[in-house]
Amino acid sequence: MRVVIAGYGNVGRELGILLAEKVPDLRQRYGLEIMVAGVVTGRHGGWVARSATGIAPAALVAADWPSNQALPEGAEPFSGDALALIQATLLQSSVPADVLIEISPTNPRTGEPALSYCRAAIAHGMHVVTANKGPIALAHRELQSAAAARGVKVRFESTVMDGTPVINLSEFTLPATEISGIRAIINATSNYILSGLTLGQDFAETVRRAQAIGIAEADPSLDLDGWDAAVKVTIIANVLMGAAILPSEVVRETDAERMRAMVAAAPAGHVIKQVASVVRDSSAASGIRARVALEELAIDDSLASIGQGKAAIQFHTDTMGDLTVIEGPGSPRQTAFGILADLITIHRQSTGMPEKEAQA
Ligand SMILES: NC(=O)c1ccc[n+]([C@@H]2O[C@H](COP(=O)([O-])OP(=O)(O)OC[C@H]3O[C@@H](n4cnc5c(N)ncnc54)[C@H](OP(=O)(O)O)[C@@H]3O)[C@@H](O)[C@H]2O)c1
Repeated sequence: MRVVIAGYGNVGRELGILLAEKVPDLRQRYGLEIMVAGVVTGRHGGWVARSATGIAPAALVAADWPSNQALPEGAEPFSGDALALIQATLLQSSVPADVLIEISPTNPRTGEPALSYCRAAIAHGMHVVTANKGPIALAHRELQSAAAARGVKVRFESTVMDGTPVINLSEFTLPATEISGIRAIINATSNYILSGLTLGQDFAETVRRAQAIGIAEADPSLDLDGWDAAVKVTIIANVLMGAAILPSEVVRETDAERMRAMVAAAPAGHVIKQVASVVRDSSAASGIRARVALEELAIDDSLASIGQGKAAIQFHTDTMGDLTVIEGPGSPRQTAFGILADLITIHRQSTGMPEKEAQA
């Protein structure tokens, strides 16, 4: 499997490390050898493999590019964007690389430039694996139907709760199951700050601490105002519940001021959480109601114990009742794992490898 990678930051570097670590496992269990045909970034430029075979993950890790300026052995500098890189690898080997791994920064309003990268990859007959929420929240149906027409796959496990199985859990382990709703705590910054406030910590100090450990952005308002959770809940509603909504249609009832006021007023035995939810609602034009809101949860609510650093999603199903998945502290390694899981799924599906063979 030859991959091209758009974006090589925290997730990209962890993906390189994980791919290098898993070489023997991938070979033995799946007969899968993943090679990198090229990488592009924003400010740090990019590189393309000199040979059509590509660069082995161990060479990526050894070079530690772009922290270290030396390129991986066998690579040459490349100055175009991901669209140009797709073309370049196509010219190099006369067949396109197999997969675009799209891990450039998320633009939740336009999805760009990632959306154009994904469209171009599909048009060239490449699969797409992405951790980038923008293209999936804004154009999931369009990308899936273009991919189906071209006979390729678009997979995006890491767009929600890093690599925690959310999309794959539903796809592979809940057959014939109707998901009638979900409730989730899926924004790390809001959860960190609300948990701190509940413990009596100062708001500004809690925000500073969340920024210092890399959870919160310099401007945390997209998280506190519910935009990040709205984008994720859009993906969940559209993919797992067959809806067709945009992030702007998710009702948001959360902000810093309300957080402070609600935590201060919470009765004993209750906690305030930013809860993202989707329920079916035949009176809504879209057939569902999606919301990100501050909720007062009784202490025995299964989401009440999701403290700092954790995330959780609860599925309401007609087969398993309520099913809750909890993620411990998220990290780029987990996100890289979600990408690896998607690459393996694509390999298995495109080679027709049955599940039992993959587990042998
Ligand atoms: N961090 C996580 O655990 C996590 C979890 C879930 C989802 N995600 C998603 O995964 C993606 C990557 O996250 P990250 O933490 O790795 O971000 P990051 O550390 O900020 O890295 C972003 C990378 O994208 C590059 N880039 C910027 N503009 C680009 C462009 N126009 N075309 C191609 N590459 C471009 C950057 O290059 P320069 O530095 O050279 O500008 C950098 O290499 C994001 O969409 C994020 O939302 C991340």
